[in-house]
Amino acid sequence: MFLRVLCILLLGVLGAKASFFNKTQAAIEEAIYLPKPIPAQCAARFNSVKPISVLMVADNGTFSGTSEAVFVLDLLQSQNQAPAASTPCQDLYTGTLFGEKVVLAISGIGPEAAALCTTYITACAELVKDFIYFGTSGWSAQTGGILNAPSSCAAANGPTTRTRLGDVAITPYSVNWQCKLASWTEQCTGFPNVCTYPIEEAGPIVTSLYGQCIFSQKTSANTALSDELLAATRSSQFAANALLLQPSFNATILPYETEYFATTTAGTGVAYPPFPAYTGPAILDYTQAAELDAQFFFSGTPWEMVGRNYTAQTLNLANGGNLTQYDVKIVNAEEGVGVSAALDLYNSLEGVPEIKYTFVRGASDYSYQPPYKTGPGTWAESATPAANFDTQYTFAIQTISTVVLTTFQLRCLAVGNSASACAYTLPALP
Ligand SMILES: *[C@@H]1O[C@H](CO)[C@@H](O)[C@H](O)[C@H]1NC(C)=O
Ligand SMILES: *[C@@H]1O[C@H](CO)[C@@H](O)[C@H](O)[C@H]1NC(C)=O
Ligand SMILES: *[C@@H]1O[C@H](CO)[C@@H](O)[C@H](O)[C@H]1NC(C)=O
Ligand SMILES: *[C@@H]1O[C@H](CO)[C@@H](O)[C@H](O)[C@H]1NC(C)=O
Ligand SMILES: *[C@@H]1O[C@H](CO)[C@@H](O)[C@H](O)[C@H]1NC(C)=O
Repeated sequence: MFLRVLCILLLGVLGAKASFFNKTQAAIEEAIYLPKPIPAQCAARFNSVKPISVLMVADNGTFSGTSEAVFVLDLLQSQNQAPAASTPCQDLYTGTLFGEKVVLAISGIGPEAAALCTTYITACAELVKDFIYFGTSGWSAQTGGILNAPSSCAAANGPTTRTRLGDVAITPYSVNWQCKLASWTEQCTGFPNVCTYPIEEAGPIVTSLYGQCIFSQKTSANTALSDELLAATRSSQFAANALLLQPSFNATILPYETEYFATTTAGTGVAYPPFPAYTGPAILDYTQAAELDAQFFFSGTPWEMVGRNYTAQTLNLANGGNLTQYDVKIVNAEEGVGVSAALDLYNSLEGVPEIKYTFVRGASDYSYQPPYKTGPGTWAESATPAANFDTQYTFAIQTISTVVLTTFQLRCLAVGNSASACAYTLPALP
């Protein structure tokens, strides 16, 4: 009797131990091999059993008053909004765009929010056809800037390729502007002369100090996706769609642009003549632009010079060229480094389907006010014209939406639909 009880107790203890071990083992396995959503969960997440295109933006309108998603969202058919508590993205819609299944996500502003929302997408990579992040950005007024330190402070650079607000960069590359080691006295050593190159002790190449700052990995999948969008901007459909933006450009951007370059002309003594009539945005490709990200909303020629240097370094790593700060413009945004960190890391895993991606950034503002000469080699910046973020951001959102929508229009035509079935007009703002 006693023996039997002991045996049962022992068996019970052993049994408990065995099942405890089994549970622990299972938990360890789950922790090492993160549980993936099963295909049915991914299909529910994206509302599709076939691969979808991901379109992602940052701002729901919190900053400029206009959501970066507003125009695409308006054309999204069979729309379904995911419950807020079901996704780390600020907002996530599923639907069809010109007959193609898409997910339109608003990540929220900043690289962390963008990376988290992107990770939610990578968990279901089997269902992702491609990934386009689009949004607004601050640009140099022209290639190589109006001023360059140290070597061209005696006279302003004459007109090179100037930026008109609404111009668009299409590139899979990004770099973190924040990655710099310098003291305040080094960085601002030339103050108040804005024709000064800020001194730094280390820049974005030094990963031991900052982690990865430069995302310049050249993959054929990413450049192929960028090439598809670039080809769309050279199509007759794009020319027609973009020309429709002329009244909007004339009403909101032209007076500002005219004043900006007239002030630059007056302040530099160098002529920056008026532009021809607006017919659509100029497009920069991935040999000319990388997204320069910062969580410091900077303005001013010195910061912009550093940005051009980082942009040149990134493009040289990506494309093997020999560019300097004299050869590029900055395209200053926030989220690219977060998206690239998430996607490059995901794509480097073994045995997963690669997600191809690119960024589409529209010029919503100039990254410095018009400079004027205060003495031999010394410069300051005007307070005018005053930027109007509301109208300028809205216009940039119109041009980048036109790039994205024309790409889908062409995909719609490519599968044999009629021109009228694939046509669209950019919706009016709600
Ligand atoms: C662990 O659980 C499995 C069933 O899931 C069972 O076959 C096995 O015997 C258990 N192992 C131990 C040590 O109890
Ligand atoms: C944008 O998202 C934030 C955070 O979820 C929310 O507080 C805000 O109301 C949203 N704004 C708009 C215009 O939807
Ligand atoms: C816009 O302004 C240009 C001059 O820059 C002019 O040629 C064109 O006709 C204007 N278009 C509209 C629709 O007002
Ligand atoms: C870069 O510039 C240097 C100096 O001008 C030149 O010697 C070199 O050939 C260039 N390299 C490339 C890849 O263009
Ligand atoms: C960037 O600036 C550093 C000095 O801070 C310089 O050594 C380097 O050559 C510059 N690189 C480019 C690509 O302009």
